[in-house]
Amino acid sequence: MQQAGDIPVIKQKFLKKGRLLGSGCFANVYKGKLALSRHQIVRVAVKEPVNDAEKLAWVLHELQGVEGVPKLYGVTDATPPGLVMGLCRGVVLQALWESGEVELCVVALVKLCSTVRHLHALGVTHGDIHKGNVLVDVSDEGEVEATLLDFGLAERFTDATRQVDDVREVVSTALQVLAWSGQLCGVRRSLHGVEDLDSVEVLLAEALSILQAVSE
Ligand SMILES: Nc1ncnc2c1ncn2[C@@H]1O[C@H](COP(=O)(O)OP(=O)(O)OP(=O)(O)O)[C@@H](O)[C@H]1O
Ligand SMILES: [Mg+2]
Repeated sequence: MQQAGDIPVIKQKFLKKGRLLGSGCFANVYKGKLALSRHQIVRVAVKEPVNDAEKLAWVLHELQGVEGVPKLYGVTDATPPGLVMGLCRGVVLQALWESGEVELCVVALVKLCSTVRHLHALGVTHGDIHKGNVLVDVSDEGEVEATLLDFGLAERFTDATRQVDDVREVVSTALQVLAWSGQLCGVRRSLHGVEDLDSVEVLLAEALSILQAVSE
């Protein structure tokens, strides 16, 4: 694999593309397999075409190791290039919400807050947080994982003012999720206008305990 700075460039002959996972206004995302060596094949998600693949790759590179962010394998040598990420498990928060899994959605949102806090500590803003860009998975042990996808509008070297926009998007997502249950009216009222992740987390924890009390 060649390197563009610290970003590996992946030759397409090592990449086998499979079925379409999703398509947006600008790009398609395919499931795939990447041969890292003769003996090591990993499952990946390939997003293409990507307008500014190098910028996007640098954002993900900066975030490697942060829980809730896809692993970056590199950019392809296609023109325009594609972005090769680790294949994350789960279903989008939107689908969970549509099927009425409010409690699970709230747990995922708590995880999302922690991921966004890490992003911000590294100076990165996401810029497009919504129910369609969060993947939620529940392990066999019942552990919930939330992965933030789609860093196409992300920026590096941002300050607190820009970061508030992300928090507003988290709040707006939470308000939509909590609208499912009448018992959560009070929490929803308190969430309006909140601009810091700590307060969002406290209110989500309150929502969770209300939901758990109702389901017992
Ligand atoms: N790393 C990944 N692992 C597993 N699935 C993924 C991954 N990245 C994307 N997907 C799947 O592909 C879908 C679309 O991805 P994404 O949100 O990045 O692009 P988009 O919204 O279609 O594109 P656009 O940038 O044009 O808005 C996701 O909803 C998810 O189902
Ligand atoms: Mg998206």
